[in-house]
Amino acid sequence: MALVVSAGLLVSGCAGAAVRVERGWLPTDRNTTNQTSRIMTMWNGSWIAALAVGVLVWGLTLWCVVAYRRRRGEQGLPLQVRYNLPLEILYTVVPLIMVAVLFYFTARDQVAIAATNVKPDVTIDVVAKQWSWDFNYVNENVYDGGVMAELTGAPGVEREAPTLYLPVNQRVQFNLTSRDVIHSFWIPAFRFKRDMIPGTPGSFRVDVADVAGYYPNSGVCAEFCGLDHSSMRFSVRILPPDEFEQWLIDEQEAQS
Ligand code: CUA
Repeated sequence: MALVVSAGLLVSGCAGAAVRVERGWLPTDRNTTNQTSRIMTMWNGSWIAALAVGVLVWGLTLWCVVAYRRRRGEQGLPLQVRYNLPLEILYTVVPLIMVAVLFYFTARDQVAIAATNVKPDVTIDVVAKQWSWDFNYVNENVYDGGVMAELTGAPGVEREAPTLYLPVNQRVQFNLTSRDVIHSFWIPAFRFKRDMIPGTPGSFRVDVADVAGYYPNSGVCAEFCGLDHSSMRFSVRILPPDEFEQWLIDEQEAQS
């Protein structure tokens, strides 16, 4: 009971925060970017398919346990079936079909997210490093070399995490590289992450929806990369296009 009460306090305390941080295994917000709905449809579809397979397997298991249980007076081993060709074909082909279906939908959606057929409005080179992020707007000559956020837990003493600036309703291309070890770029609200492998650049594109705001510590590194992996965070500030343009101009002046 004490646990329930404290959990309730925790939940209500979090609900008062300015930014909703989603926790748990069932995300609900489909419209953070133009890709999130697609990703969540695949996520939900995979769960439904896995559950259907699970119910079938559990059902068959239970049926075997009940139907073929040892009866009173039975002795020795039951009939041992070996080298039954139809059975062996069945349990080779059925998993192959399941893997092929999952592979098809994953590949289809990955290709769509990584598609580079339309010119992006903004290109951001993201460089991961132990244990922070650089956000470089190379076309605009704006560079932001981040320092590690110190997440001490005490308010007022943490160093601010680097901030990724994004415009709403524009096509943003992220070019991802790493300066040292493997990291992974993840904004959980985008429902998408991509590994950042040294020497192997990756990229993806999103149109950020009309969700202007400041989201502190809403981006994380999702690949264990050393001692301070857990501090490898960044904040996201999403601006209307005109304010974003103004921010770029201000930064150009400040950095020149
Ligand atoms: Cu970078 Cu974990």
